[in-house]
Amino acid sequence: MGIVDPTTYTDLAQGRIKHIDFRIGVNFSTRTLDIETKYQLQEPVQGSLYLDSYKIDLKKAHANGRELEWQFDAQDEVLGERLHLKGLQADSSFTLTFQTSIEARALQWLNASQTAGGNLPFLFSQCQATHARSIFPCQDTPSVRFTYSAEVEVPQGLVAAMAAEQVGVQEGSGQNLFRFQMPQPIPSYLFALVVGNLAFRELGPRTGVYAEPETIEAAAWEFAENEIKMNEAEKLLGPYLWGRYDVLILPPSFPYGGMENPRLTFLTPTAILGTRGHTSLITHELAHAWTGNLITNATWQDFWLNEGWTTYAETRITEVLEGKDVTDLHEVYDEKRLIAVMEQIGKDSPLTCLKLPADEKDADSFTTIIPYYKGCFFLQECEYVVGRERFDAFIQTYMARFQFQSLATEAFLDFLKAELPQVFEKVNVQQWIYEPGLPEERHRPKSYLYDEVQQALNAYQQGIKPAREQVQNWHRYQIMSFLQGLPGKIAVEDCRYFDDILELEKRNDVALFSYFYIICIASSDQSILPRVERFMETMGRMLYILPVVRAMSEAEWSRSHLRSLFERVRDRHHQITVRAMEETLKRAGL
Ligand code: BES
Ligand code: ZN
Repeated sequence: MGIVDPTTYTDLAQGRIKHIDFRIGVNFSTRTLDIETKYQLQEPVQGSLYLDSYKIDLKKAHANGRELEWQFDAQDEVLGERLHLKGLQADSSFTLTFQTSIEARALQWLNASQTAGGNLPFLFSQCQATHARSIFPCQDTPSVRFTYSAEVEVPQGLVAAMAAEQVGVQEGSGQNLFRFQMPQPIPSYLFALVVGNLAFRELGPRTGVYAEPETIEAAAWEFAENEIKMNEAEKLLGPYLWGRYDVLILPPSFPYGGMENPRLTFLTPTAILGTRGHTSLITHELAHAWTGNLITNATWQDFWLNEGWTTYAETRITEVLEGKDVTDLHEVYDEKRLIAVMEQIGKDSPLTCLKLPADEKDADSFTTIIPYYKGCFFLQECEYVVGRERFDAFIQTYMARFQFQSLATEAFLDFLKAELPQVFEKVNVQQWIYEPGLPEERHRPKSYLYDEVQQALNAYQQGIKPAREQVQNWHRYQIMSFLQGLPGKIAVEDCRYFDDILELEKRNDVALFSYFYIICIASSDQSILPRVERFMETMGRMLYILPVVRAMSEAEWSRSHLRSLFERVRDRHHQITVRAMEETLKRAGL
């Protein structure tokens, strides 16, 4: 079956990588990794093999004692350089020796001053979607899976962790050697490495947390319920097949809320609210252990198979742990956001289809919330038609049938049709998957908790502001719904009033900060500037930071501050974030 993936130079007709042995030396002074990789192929390869790479400094290539010729032929700002290995003679393995670039997109090297402890440097990787190729040459497409082993040598005093099983630590003079193995086949985007002053705390029999010593206590408290979550997830999705489930708290520049690296979810430190209030983030990343990691989208056009399924599973697990009132509230909130984003992108845009367009080579530009929520709503629609019991049985069959495989939308639909034909009689599957926007005919979520917020919003339209007592016990999602429901511009004194009664400063919640600052900026509440500056200096989560940058670029008073603010904070942020911020500034003519 031919899969067309515009984000890679991989040619599957040449052969597939099956296993990689890594030897990695971590050099903080040059900010490079010195790597030797031994690749094993599924079958012997004759002639050429194309690999994805990004600014890799290749020093040597050999197979079975022979030097191999190579050439970096195609070059592309997004895709990187196509590495053309030549002269394979029915070889089943080959070895590359190389160094990563200081510009490797998947790596962020932090100075000691950018960590919580302030004494030791830090390194972390973020490979999704197409950045693994900046760490090692590979078939950087989610349709190829490989197992691996790794030896990572780090300066003394530092700890290496990987999204893999740790199988040994050896202390040397000046250097420590950490050994890992990943016996389950993974796609390249799930390769992950971190090096820093990391402490570890056990949470449960299969769960634990890594963080800098300064944050480990708070993290252990915040995520104490992870074991319970795992047990709930297994009831819905089947046995957890990855061994352990640990989480890792990164420094603030981590560009995402979470990243589902197998066995070791990477998390933003802003997930530590001190209230256990950000549980949906963990539930989401944990659910990916099945939907995404066990069954992986074959190409990034099928991204909804990862994120839509995960959002669906997240909702189901949250319903058990927090109750239907809460998930109903989430759903109404999500639907409003989905509609708002679709309107912003354009309801007819191909980016609003579940199957994404085949001509986009920059997979990061796909990353909107649409595959998450539209995908989830589609699966809920399927569930309504056949009933929960049958849908739950379908989920278990699905997980067992495609585990450790990569799957395209079309193959998923074939399976759905074979297992649950009724779905195709009652749901317009074609429209949900291949047409833009949101089908008119669908179940609409309802929530009395949301209605309370809507009443407050309606009253505000009439000039009546909510009283402090009215909002005091609001759920976090009610506050988010309220902020998102306010008109884009309000009176400056109302900004100050809401700031006070919602006690935003005290909550220290970046989602609330982001939504609130956007309103203040658009409303010309200039007193907000120092807080916006601090926000951009201290936090790197793209989902929340980019909309604030955009708001600043749009309001007359804040436009003039933006360029200098950006230049001041850019070194603190991840390259992926800087690239996205730069794009926003450029589009705004700044
Ligand atoms: N896998 C994604 C993060 C991602 C997506 C990284 C695309 C690179 C490219 C992760 O599971 C995710 O969805 N994270 C969200 C949080 C979630 C609760 C919606 C995030 O980071 O905001
Ligand atoms: Zn996700």
